[in-house]
Amino acid sequence: MSVRYIESKKTFMLQTRNTTYQMKISDYGYLLHLYYGERMEDEDLSYLIQLQDRGFSPNPNEAGNDRTFSLDVLPQEFSSDGCCDYRLSSIEIKNGDGSYAFVGKFVKYAIYSGKYALEGLPSLRVTEQDTADTLEIWLEDKVSQLTVVLCYCVFEEKDIITRAAMVVNQSADTIYLNRLMSVTMDFMDSEYDFIHLDGRHTMERELSRSPLSYGIQTIGSFRGASSHQHNPFAVLCDRDANEDYGRCYGFSFVYSGNFVCKVEKDQYDQARIIMGIHPKHFSFQLKSGESFTAPEVVLAYSGKGLTHLSHMYHNAYRENLCRSPLAKEMRPILINSWEAAYFNFDEKKLLEIAEAAVSMGVEMFVLDDGWFGNRNSDNAALGDWVVNTEKLPGGLKGLSDKIHNMGLKFGIWIEPEMVSEDSELYRQHPDWCLQIPSRQPSRGRFQLVLDLSRADVRDYIVESISEVLDSAKIEYVKWDMNRFITDAWSSIAEKEKQGEIYHRYILGLYDIMERIILSRPQVLFCGCCGGGGRFDPGMLYYQPQIWCSDNTDAVCRLKIQYGTSFVYPISTIESHVSVCPNEQTGRYVPMKTRGVTAMDGILGYELDSTRMTDEEKQICKEQIKKYRSYYPLIAKGDYYRLTNPYSFSQYVAWEHVSKDKREALLSLVLTEKESNDAQQYVKAKGLIPDMRYQVDGLEGSFSGQLLMSAGIPVPSSLLQYEAVQYYIRAV
Ligand code: DGJ
Repeated sequence: MSVRYIESKKTFMLQTRNTTYQMKISDYGYLLHLYYGERMEDEDLSYLIQLQDRGFSPNPNEAGNDRTFSLDVLPQEFSSDGCCDYRLSSIEIKNGDGSYAFVGKFVKYAIYSGKYALEGLPSLRVTEQDTADTLEIWLEDKVSQLTVVLCYCVFEEKDIITRAAMVVNQSADTIYLNRLMSVTMDFMDSEYDFIHLDGRHTMERELSRSPLSYGIQTIGSFRGASSHQHNPFAVLCDRDANEDYGRCYGFSFVYSGNFVCKVEKDQYDQARIIMGIHPKHFSFQLKSGESFTAPEVVLAYSGKGLTHLSHMYHNAYRENLCRSPLAKEMRPILINSWEAAYFNFDEKKLLEIAEAAVSMGVEMFVLDDGWFGNRNSDNAALGDWVVNTEKLPGGLKGLSDKIHNMGLKFGIWIEPEMVSEDSELYRQHPDWCLQIPSRQPSRGRFQLVLDLSRADVRDYIVESISEVLDSAKIEYVKWDMNRFITDAWSSIAEKEKQGEIYHRYILGLYDIMERIILSRPQVLFCGCCGGGGRFDPGMLYYQPQIWCSDNTDAVCRLKIQYGTSFVYPISTIESHVSVCPNEQTGRYVPMKTRGVTAMDGILGYELDSTRMTDEEKQICKEQIKKYRSYYPLIAKGDYYRLTNPYSFSQYVAWEHVSKDKREALLSLVLTEKESNDAQQYVKAKGLIPDMRYQVDGLEGSFSGQLLMSAGIPVPSSLLQYEAVQYYIRAV
């Protein structure tokens, strides 16, 4: 078993193929964190705990005259609140008597094979290829009679450990849970860099890296969605860690709403990281006997750099997270109508776009926003999921039939979570959206957010969207969400329960996705939130691909996709070739480069194909042909970031390598060109050193070692923003 309790030492030992995680029940029943990192067989790392008098840090009462037992210093698995530990706390409870204390002591544990269940929440699942064991540890506060259950699942071969937590109110009182972190991890040192993915609309998941400094560093979202601004992912790594070297700890939160991740460097140069649902405006009422479950955090440790860390997440998310059976299949290459026509289309125009794309080898036509109700701009009709027959006289069925007659599949756009004030739905049910009584709700893109905490609202969404999806042959659905939440107040919740609304919204979202998406395994769903504002593992559980960004500029995408690749598999990143000059930046990038960049994901097109020249169409046709042949490598291989676009400006390069290392695709975009430049070389990674490889376009054969150590000369004929791809295969 990968989980053991060693009674004589009072230690819990979790072991994956390459990592070890150890905890200990201390003298007074506190659960201490001893170690997470490189695998070791030693059963007892208790000697790491060294006690000494910590002056002004109080000691728990049961320590008596012993002033050396300080919870303010000891590494803990789940930090108490209101008792001696002034660092970040894992929990905050308002007890029935009004006090804020929670002091959890070990009471029991359970070990079993398989995985714990998190009802109503997405999480990794165990496949037939996995060996997975669960450890549950009960910590109880005997005074307030609250129990916290810490859940761990060890995915042995994947080198992944998942963590979640649950609170059960066993007291007779009603209590308020104001914070419950899904993970707390203490480190006895703090010489780490904090890496996270930040950004903004149209520039998501940019990589930030900074050393820990005294005090607290925070990322998070309070927008009701995981957000463009910060992604629920963080890494703590050695200061000198790079792609191939150094200890790296990954924390990825399987949740799509408000989240927080904080790292504290304390007075003794130790570090604590916590991650979980954002406690702001969060207050969950727990009556006697009720419980609350915090979502899962996926932990990974790499002792050999960031690339390996990414590979662990990619493998686990491809195989254990995405539930769609279509996730494992090649995705259809689509053309989307948004940047081609926006709201300005009729059936004739759409058919022309589709027709022109057929000759390029496109396989699916996707009708984006604007097909329903009075939706001629973004200020009306959300919620009225009835086809606009002025634009589409034959309805969705008529259009779908015609598209299918061209040999294409058909997909549509929906935005089920929203309502426009100018809609029949809002006129009939003004109380169905989130808004605070007596306050005018703020508007985002002229729309309001439906109250997904309400069962009747969820039922309406499921019924109306199901009717649409069943009205025609629809093989793909882009599920959008175009404003963040404010005014989080539900007209049916009691005032004591209004602090639950942000979380209940997400539970409601998961419920409607469960009902709409998982009951249609043959339909491919793509997540979207003004581009990549909700690109998180929670959404990937339901929707195996996500529109990465509204920014389709291939050069900007180099950074966006670079950041995204740190945790999310390439097979989840939807990426489109669009028109130039680019509509977001005005930049001109050759069609070939746009294709090479979009191939670093799920390739698609987003332009008016009727305006393309024959030459452009021919380039796209070749792109699509190549993409099809490279797809297994791109979607299932290991990903290598060959450059850091933030620190190296001449070119950006990346590589997909097959699992057996016999095949690779190396792609490069020249981002900076000067006259009479020095010769550049691009070095491959992940090949077998003594295997011989042929490189398409180059004479002869080369050892893997040579391609990785000396590299391939970057053609000096490449001009700024031009791209080159090398297909490498063993001979
Ligand atoms: C935002 C998305 O990111 C776009 O791709 C497009 O679908 C629009 N919404 C439609 O309103």
